[in-house]
Amino acid sequence: MTIRPEQPADVDTIRTLTRAAFAHAPHASQTEAAIVDALRDAGALTLSLVSEDNGEILGHVAFSPVTVGGADGWYGLGPVSVWPESQSRGIGQSLIRHGLEALRQMGARGCVLIGDPAYYSRFGFVADPGVSYGGIPPEYVQRLAFGDDIARGEIVYHAGFEAG
Ligand SMILES: CC(C)(COP(=O)(O)OP(=O)(O)OC[C@H]1O[C@@H](n2cnc3c(N)ncnc32)[C@H](O)[C@@H]1OP(=O)(O)O)[C@@H](O)C(=O)NCCC(=O)NCCS
Repeated sequence: MTIRPEQPADVDTIRTLTRAAFAHAPHASQTEAAIVDALRDAGALTLSLVSEDNGEILGHVAFSPVTVGGADGWYGLGPVSVWPESQSRGIGQSLIRHGLEALRQMGARGCVLIGDPAYYSRFGFVADPGVSYGGIPPEYVQRLAFGDDIARGEIVYHAGFEAG
C-alpha cells in the first residue's frame, strides 16, 4: 500500500469514494464529495492524499487551511474516506498519520477537526474548551498543536465547506 498526492486522473474516483464512504456514515451531510471538489477548485486542497494498493485507490484524506480565533497556520482534517468494504483495516489511520506528518514538515501550527474523539485521540487530538465551532458539542471539536502555539477561539473553515 502506498500513499501519494492525488493526480488529475484520481478526481472522479475520489468523488465516488467520498460519496460511498459517507452514504451511511453518522453525522454525514452528503455534501462531502462536493466539498472536496470545491476545495480543489479554489486551490484550497493543501493536501489531498490517496492510499493505493495494486493501482486501486482505497482511501482519501483532505486537509485545507482554517483559521482558529483569526490565526492562520492551522489546517482542517477532512473529509476522510475509505470504501465501506475496506474500512477498519488501518487505511484511514495511515492516511491521517501521513497527512499530519506532511503538515508538520510544512511548518503548520497544527490541525483541527470535528469528529469522534474515540477515533481521533489515537493521533494526539484533544478536545480543547478554548476552541469552538458553532454549536458543535465541545468534545467533538478536536485540535492537535505541533508546537507551542495555543489555538484559541472559533474555527473558520474554507468557504468550500459550504458547497453542496
Ligand atoms: C472514518 C474512516 C475514514 C476510518 O478509516 P478506516 O480505515 O475505516 O479506520 P482504521 O482502520 O484506520 O481504524 C479503525 C478503527 O477506527 C474505528 N472507527 C472507524 N470509523 C470511526 C468513526 N467514524 N468513529 C469512531 N471510530 C471509528 C474503528 O472502530 C476501529 O477502532 P479500533 O482500532 O479501536 O478497533 C472510515 O471508516 C470511513 O470512511 N468512514 C465513513 C466516512 C467518515 O465517517 N469519515 C470521517 C468523518 S470526516
